[in-house]
Amino acid sequence: MRIAVIGTGYVGLVSGACFSEFGVSVTCVDTDRAKIARLQRGEMPIYEPGLDELVAANTNAGRLSFTSELAPAIEGADAVFIAVGTPSRRGDGHADLSYVFAAAEEVGRALAETRADGYTVVVTKSTVPVGTGREVASILRRVCRRERFDVASNPEFLREGSAIEDFMHPDRVVIGAESDRAQTVMRQLYRPLYLIETPMMFTDIETAELIKYAANAFLATKITFINEIADLCEKVGADVQDVAKGIGLDGRIGRKFLHAGPGFGGSCFPKDCRALVRTAREARANLSIVERVVQVNDARKARMAEKIIAACGGSVAGKTIAVLGLTFKPNTDDMRDAPSLEILPRLTAAGATVRAFDPEGMGEAEKLLPEIVYCGEAYETMKSADVLVLLTEWNEFRALDLARIGQLLAEPLVIDLRNIYQPAEMAAAGLSYVSIGRPPYLGRAGAPASI
Ligand SMILES: NC(=O)c1ccc[n+]([C@@H]2O[C@H](COP(=O)([O-])OP(=O)(O)OC[C@H]3O[C@@H](n4cnc5c(N)ncnc54)[C@H](O)[C@@H]3O)[C@@H](O)[C@H]2O)c1
Repeated sequence: MRIAVIGTGYVGLVSGACFSEFGVSVTCVDTDRAKIARLQRGEMPIYEPGLDELVAANTNAGRLSFTSELAPAIEGADAVFIAVGTPSRRGDGHADLSYVFAAAEEVGRALAETRADGYTVVVTKSTVPVGTGREVASILRRVCRRERFDVASNPEFLREGSAIEDFMHPDRVVIGAESDRAQTVMRQLYRPLYLIETPMMFTDIETAELIKYAANAFLATKITFINEIADLCEKVGADVQDVAKGIGLDGRIGRKFLHAGPGFGGSCFPKDCRALVRTAREARANLSIVERVVQVNDARKARMAEKIIAACGGSVAGKTIAVLGLTFKPNTDDMRDAPSLEILPRLTAAGATVRAFDPEGMGEAEKLLPEIVYCGEAYETMKSADVLVLLTEWNEFRALDLARIGQLLAEPLVIDLRNIYQPAEMAAAGLSYVSIGRPPYLGRAGAPASI
């Protein structure tokens, strides 16, 4: 089979590489010529574990190629996947569909030029609001004969940081396709997953589109729920780690997405929750839970700066704060909507100097947070710093030398917004320790009024 993937970002590039691994001939297309040139040289434009090896193997095998020319890429393709960005539209939170519609127009024009007997399934893999598939179909119909294509929705559930594993072993594949012909093409493409008994769900297009938003909104709600429980734990002296474990062991609840932290970020949850709220408002449906999740999460990220300032005794003016981790989660270089973008400018505005290190995110962070001093590794970050803030739970921050931290920091206080460490081990190492939803250990400093 032959496919084209439009957009070689986190989703398009991973999907294209994984389909080529399935034995499909894949051409990845992007309007960003610099990105395509890098991919043609074998350089990855993003950090995703295992991606460079997968791309290299399939490029060398002749199954995967990269181009900025859309028309030749879709000539004779069984399916074209649209995997371009759908960021929040400025002002109203609706998904900005301009990239999707621009791609659909280009695809339509190119399909109209291809073989008269050709047939291609045009698949939206981007996360798009309910109704977008129908709009894509009407854009295509304006330029291309009806029998030349079908439209399908195939939302993607991969997570950055484990994207290849997620694509190769998903919990399910959701396909919104309404003609037998389109369903057959999609079934053939995903045959390797069908063979390993991955549940395949065929629905209408609207349902497939909504499944993606409902999934993300539910996960965002779960995180926000445990974050609010963490706040309650701090007030009443309970331990949120144990509360999360205690409820998560209940099979009806499940343990995943119950890690209290600084609030969710990333390229999907914030914008997808906002877009779902917009969809509900336009449909005059009540989605007050998700509306509240967005508000609570936004406020939480801002409040984390206050928590750090309170832990530092009420002021960070003139202090130097070492920060480990800038990306919204580990194993990615993605800085979109990362909590660091909300928290760190507030600390510098309050008079602190921030020194930071992230294993993969600093290239992007330097553009977004120019006021930060960037360091080459974890311990260098702590040199001449007063306190340490752990902001992203990269594995390399999970086993830091606590004695060395104590020697490097002036105070020495560790504020752990990801609950990587145990309060008892920090106390044993002589470090004051403030985390999320657990009683603080304040060593020599004594208990502050409120953290
Ligand atoms: N990032 C994730 O973890 C994730 C997971 C699931 C779903 N999604 C969804 O997948 C979609 C893509 O997300 P992403 O993170 O990969 O985006 P991204 O911003 O990393 O990549 C989008 C790419 O599309 C290219 N592009 C834009 N218009 C184009 C056009 N007309 N023709 C060709 N290329 C074009 C851009 O140059 C860019 O390289 C979004 O809708 C997102 O919500 C993302």
